[in-house]
Amino acid sequence: MEIIESTVSNQTHSPKPPETMDTYLSKMGNNLVTKFHVLMRISQIYDSKNVALQQFTQESLQAINGMIEREGNLSLKIMKNDLYLNAQRLRYSVEGFTSFKYLITQWKKRLIGEVLFKDVIDEDSLKEFIYLLMNLEEGQEENANLVNEELAKRRLFTIEVEPLEISEGEEEAVTLRKEDQREVAKKVFFETVGTIKEVITHIKGKQQADVRKLKRLVQKAVHLVMEDESILLGMTTIKNYDEYTFNHSVNVSIYSLAIGRRLGLQKKFLTELGIAGLLHDIGKSKIPREVLNKPGPLNQEEWVLMKKHSLMGVEIVLNLKQLGEINPRMVIGVFDHHLKNDPSGYPKLFRKKELGLFGRIIQIADVYDAMTTPRIYKKVPFTPEQALAVMLKEKGGQFDPILLKVFIGLVGIFPIGSLALLDTREIGIIYKPNHDPQWMDRPQVMIVARDAKGYAKKEIVDLTERNGNSGFRRSIIKTLDPNKYHIDIAKYFL
Ligand SMILES: [Fe+2]
Ligand SMILES: [Fe+2]
Repeated sequence: MEIIESTVSNQTHSPKPPETMDTYLSKMGNNLVTKFHVLMRISQIYDSKNVALQQFTQESLQAINGMIEREGNLSLKIMKNDLYLNAQRLRYSVEGFTSFKYLITQWKKRLIGEVLFKDVIDEDSLKEFIYLLMNLEEGQEENANLVNEELAKRRLFTIEVEPLEISEGEEEAVTLRKEDQREVAKKVFFETVGTIKEVITHIKGKQQADVRKLKRLVQKAVHLVMEDESILLGMTTIKNYDEYTFNHSVNVSIYSLAIGRRLGLQKKFLTELGIAGLLHDIGKSKIPREVLNKPGPLNQEEWVLMKKHSLMGVEIVLNLKQLGEINPRMVIGVFDHHLKNDPSGYPKLFRKKELGLFGRIIQIADVYDAMTTPRIYKKVPFTPEQALAVMLKEKGGQFDPILLKVFIGLVGIFPIGSLALLDTREIGIIYKPNHDPQWMDRPQVMIVARDAKGYAKKEIVDLTERNGNSGFRRSIIKTLDPNKYHIDIAKYFL
């Protein structure tokens, strides 16, 4: 497995893998970028005499000079959309992403490509430099010269800047590299599962839970979904990472975010929707484990209890310490998530109530994830397309038809994570849907091949690829049941 993976990454001409980067440099780099970010921000708000600025300058100085003492000098350079610290590409940490993006965007706007510290510096030099940099007019080609001249005038010969190198065909926007996005997505996913677990454990133990952490994670997830929805969607194939409720909450949140994004919701609403998705089943923390994980059908009494979970969820959410982070829309989303137009929904209402948008979105995400996840009472789950078929047939219009359509468009006719047989007799995992409605049946597929150890990742192919004679190189013949082939789909998304 390892061998095959490394050949794959060689083929994609990736630079030196970041794992081999000096961990000291990597840590230092992330720390430095964060410090620069804060300094640059503060310099835009306060004048150079401000106390807050002084404190941060001190902290930044320690970071900068510590690095110079160790390495001799310090260069921070932008190449394309990456940052290089002393010629090594920095990989962003989840926490560091905002700072990376800010620094790259701000420097690019001013056409500054590199900052070089040739020797240790003092507080005043650093402050002068930051104000020089931030006060540059955007888009001026002579900016780098201007800074160097100013620095020379002030006899600050230890700092130097270089103009931005603009390579051809470069995208304007600062986006994460795909491999980094995948790393960030993984971290966000697992951290969120861990955090929701913590929240539920706290609630069970009648302790206060920290929702701010959840919010921060959801903000990161929103960011990822906006950049490339398929990466986080791929994570939803991880079905058994931890207890069902934790995994399920995160998956529902991801699906909801992806639907919300397709609807064009603003970031603020997406964050609220993502949190509502995470908390939709929080009421289950009040239901005994024996009932939640009961292998057989629930008895009447247990059902009555189970059906209380959406209302209990509302109560829990309203009692959260940081209620300021909670918006009525989220509370309604939790309340609505099992409400239906017919009597099978719950809680029972005296008067008919229209479902809110969050509730309608969460219902689709919720049912789809529940159906495609193995449970104690249903060991073999529905395949993604079986689940979609069931949802489409649902009588009485349980699901909002437009939202369901959006959802199907999102997961594709061949949802991410389905297994397919191709006309080349190859077997592949649907990796990324094709968003062009014309080519919905031609997603990107990861071809998997059997080797001595079972199945191993081989290559990602695009089914829109032609074969030279007006036909396609590969087409899907039919989908296969991964359970029959003993393929652990999630493994291929990590
Ligand atoms: Fe629920
Ligand atoms: Fe649920």
